[in-house]
Amino acid sequence: MAYFLAVANRKGGVGKSTITVMLAHALSIWGGKRVLIIDLDSQCNASMIMLGGEGWVAARSARRTIADYFSDAFSNRVSRPGAYVLDRVGDVVDGAGRQPPLSILPGSLLLDDVQGELFLLQADHRAASDISVGLRERLIETLRRFEHEYDVIILDCAPGLSFAALAGLKMADKVVVPFRADYVSLLAVDRVALMIEERRDLDDLADVPLSRRRYACLANFVRDNGRERLLIEEIGLAHPVFATELPQRDGIANSFDWLAQSTSMEEKYGNAISDVRSLYNEIIPLMRR
Ligand SMILES: Nc1ncnc2c1ncn2[C@@H]1O[C@H](COP(=O)(O)OP(=O)(O)OP(=O)(O)O)[C@@H](O)[C@H]1O
Ligand SMILES: [Mg+2]
Repeated sequence: MAYFLAVANRKGGVGKSTITVMLAHALSIWGGKRVLIIDLDSQCNASMIMLGGEGWVAARSARRTIADYFSDAFSNRVSRPGAYVLDRVGDVVDGAGRQPPLSILPGSLLLDDVQGELFLLQADHRAASDISVGLRERLIETLRRFEHEYDVIILDCAPGLSFAALAGLKMADKVVVPFRADYVSLLAVDRVALMIEERRDLDDLADVPLSRRRYACLANFVRDNGRERLLIEEIGLAHPVFATELPQRDGIANSFDWLAQSTSMEEKYGNAISDVRSLYNEIIPLMRR
């Protein structure tokens, strides 16, 4: 059964899509795991990184996107969820030049509209107060249909609180919460942690030991300065934080670009390869059940 990893933060631009793809590459290429990325963000950045512009347009024409999958599943028209997935994707190959077991359910610009439609559809069946929870549960059920085909399913969640992001937060075995070491991020991490652990306030959250939390925070864009160090330490007092910190680096920024020619992990991540290795080494034991 697949391990569900969500990459989420209500704050935008903290590196969620970048880290989704980084983990997918590392787990499939180094870990040999069958990985599925599900792009739950209508900005579709993870899809663009994995497929390139043309590949993503082709996926849309073939109706292989999350919006198509959700619409069809909610009207009971999906017999095989795998028909919506693209296999052997990405621009990174293993040491022997083979495509890794890496798949994607591509994102769609229409995902937000589809979520609105599904919300109304649920409204026909339920009392108003239950509609949101009902929709979230139905999305979870629909996403779980992939769990038998993969070892790891990574959910790239949109910033904000879409129903799909709420489903991702609820269903994940572990949520990776990337953050920038600034004051706003501190508040954003608190908010998302409360949602994941379903606690009312920080006092209530403090009752859950750090080792039992269903999320771990990952400092990104780190530049070595004292102010950032203090903030990371402050976040670490209240939340589990990865020892790995991702610095602001060209190798990470450049990995956002899809390469028409397949390449190795070392070339794809350039001067960030040791950061990717460190994150991979740290996440493997976290994923043990
Ligand atoms: N460690 C890093 N060093 C340099 N650039 C980075 C780093 N992490 C992310 N970036 C760049 O920052 C930008 C935002 O990253 P990304 O799109 O992954 O964030 P996001 O949280 O998914 O954003 P959104 O909330 O819009 O979905 C991208 O251009 C990415 O290449
Ligand atoms: Mg993103």
